[in-house]
Amino acid sequence: MKFKGVLNATDIDKAVTLAGDELEKLGAGEKASIVGRLAIEEILLIFRENFGPEQPFKIFCLTGPGGVRVNVSVKGTSYNPLGEESPILKNLEDDFTVQPRWKYLLSQNNVLLVFPPANSLRKTIGFSWKYAFGCRKVFIIAITCQIFAALLGIVAPAISARIVVAYTTNELKRIIILAIILVVIQLLRNFFMVMSNLGYNKAYSSTLSALEKDLVENVLKVESECIDEKGSGMFIQRTTSDTQRIANGFNSIADMVGTIFNYAGVLIAMFMVDPYVALFVLGIIVVQCIMEYYRDKRLVADDRVFRKTNERVSGLVSEMVRGSKDVKCMNCEEQFVDKLNETILDANEKRWYMQKRSWTSKLFRWELGEFGSFILICLLVYNIFNGHFMATTAIVIFNYYTELGPNAVKVIGTFLDSLADFNLSNERVYALIKGPDFPKERFGKTDLPSVKGDVEFDHVHFFYERKTDHKVLNDLCFKVKSGEMVGLVGKSGCGKSTAFNLIPKLYVPTSGRVLIDGIDINELTKDSIRNNVTIVPQNPYIFRMSVRDNLKIVKDGITDEEMERVCRLACIDEDIKAMPDGYDTLIGEGGVKLSGGQRQRLAIARSMLKDSRIILFDEATSALDNETQAKIQNAIDNMRKERTVIIIAHRLSTIVNADRIMFMQDGKILKEGTHEELLRTCEPYHTFAAMDRSRNQESELPE
Ligand SMILES: Nc1ncnc2c1ncn2[C@@H]1O[C@H](COP(=O)(O)OP(=O)(O)O)[C@@H](O)[C@H]1O
Ligand SMILES: [Mg+2]
Repeated sequence: MKFKGVLNATDIDKAVTLAGDELEKLGAGEKASIVGRLAIEEILLIFRENFGPEQPFKIFCLTGPGGVRVNVSVKGTSYNPLGEESPILKNLEDDFTVQPRWKYLLSQNNVLLVFPPANSLRKTIGFSWKYAFGCRKVFIIAITCQIFAALLGIVAPAISARIVVAYTTNELKRIIILAIILVVIQLLRNFFMVMSNLGYNKAYSSTLSALEKDLVENVLKVESECIDEKGSGMFIQRTTSDTQRIANGFNSIADMVGTIFNYAGVLIAMFMVDPYVALFVLGIIVVQCIMEYYRDKRLVADDRVFRKTNERVSGLVSEMVRGSKDVKCMNCEEQFVDKLNETILDANEKRWYMQKRSWTSKLFRWELGEFGSFILICLLVYNIFNGHFMATTAIVIFNYYTELGPNAVKVIGTFLDSLADFNLSNERVYALIKGPDFPKERFGKTDLPSVKGDVEFDHVHFFYERKTDHKVLNDLCFKVKSGEMVGLVGKSGCGKSTAFNLIPKLYVPTSGRVLIDGIDINELTKDSIRNNVTIVPQNPYIFRMSVRDNLKIVKDGITDEEMERVCRLACIDEDIKAMPDGYDTLIGEGGVKLSGGQRQRLAIARSMLKDSRIILFDEATSALDNETQAKIQNAIDNMRKERTVIIIAHRLSTIVNADRIMFMQDGKILKEGTHEELLRTCEPYHTFAAMDRSRNQESELPE
């Protein structure tokens, strides 16, 4: 990529976007592309300050030694934008984990940034090899069979050439014997080929299973913030399509070992017949292979861009299915389909562009191959004419050539394609499992099998994204003791759910500490936190399984009695029994076959099964009628005895009996106390309660 412009805002903007995209396309990685954009922008702005907006500049990116290189140069007197007072290095070093190498080339007045490749072939193959390693024996058998098939493939052309010669001399008996040998060879060759293919298929299934299992486990380890940001398409594509491509890649590589063996054998045989002609054939092959290599290099860059767009298609399709009712109700199918089509068209446009480039270059290569064949025929004719060799030798050579020449390049081309495909998929899966673009949740080492249940927020600040300056939690401090039931109220959007999400460490505070039993949760193991904390959300996710399995997933091996007991407590037992298959009824994806209230009650039953010490209700009864709500309230009141219960209430009536109410505003606790105390002392709470009363028309609330 090359961009020329002057240092005005529009051109700088264009150059920065182009260079950022190019960095990703060339394989520097997502994080590097963000760092690249920022760095290039800062460099250009500093140049503008010194040379003015009319000064021309040039920027180009290419892969070179050490990774992806970006060169930014400006005409004018020498000025180093990376000098001591430059804020670039400092800002970037403080904020980002991915760092390029920087260099100011004085003589040309330009800056060179080198980003290491996000993943190298060696690293990614090393990483994915461990998945194929489990079935190495099968691989070895498959390769051995293929080598046998290849060896037989070398003998076959020689025999068929002899048959042709025998035809010309009318040696009928000889023809029959040779034909029998040829048939036996072909039968054996077919047998070995089938065995090797069966082996490769077996290896494919085993590798794929191992890879998919690991990937799924890793997706669940990715930080929630990253999952929110990337969306479902990326995970769907990488766990399904990319894993298949990797498993396939191993087969292609193994397959190639046998094929190379075959071609090497044919080439050696050719050298033995006539070294000069063989050298010529080798030359044709090498030139074509070089062309293939460059074609594939471009293909990878184009494919990387295509697959990213394709992930967006998958994401949208998954959203379309999940949100189909909303789409239909809002009667916006057309707009949605248009939006989807736009993305599909974009993806297909990229695929077309990629294929166009690839096929054009294939055409050149093929034509060159044909030209080579023509010259070879001329060469053979010349040799026969000059008495260098006989017509039969020419036939053998030509037989070998038709077996080798076009096929070898085709196979090598296909191999390079699969290798590119394999490499790219490896890169994408490796990034998900190990790369910095998909940070994993981290936990401490302190193990607390059972906790008392004290929860404390110690000067907690929290931003969802580092880039925005909207602080959701702003110096949030509170303590809730074990055995207490506390209400948390505040206007919608003030950060209540966010605060809840920090307790089981779904998100990590930007600064400050969250403590359980006086220990910073950063020091605790995953089990110590997640076994002891449960959030019952307003919109719980119920899985596409039977009711029984939805409960079993929380606690394996529960008895029917236990299951029914908690369901009675959560007032859902009757509803379940009324379903067509009772506890075995299949609930749709996300629990679509249940009402909002049923989903909430099932989630409450789930949380009761989990039986953790700290239970956080996040508007968990908002969809229930007053009567059911009162019953569940009773169950919650019973639960509170040895537990810490914090309730974000949809209606104030659900928490007027709490030991304490904390009123939250602008990301911190404004005031806390009982309902009556707050009504008296906290004006915003008074207003909040008045609004709640008018909303719920609950005049029984004490003034
Ligand atoms: N996953 C998220 N990513 C980015 N911003 C979020 C996310 N979840 C919530 N927010 C923002 O954080 C703020 C607080 O949200 P939340 O804690 O859900 O409020 P509450 O539960 O008090 O209604 C809102 O401004 C919301 O837009
Ligand atoms: Mg909320």
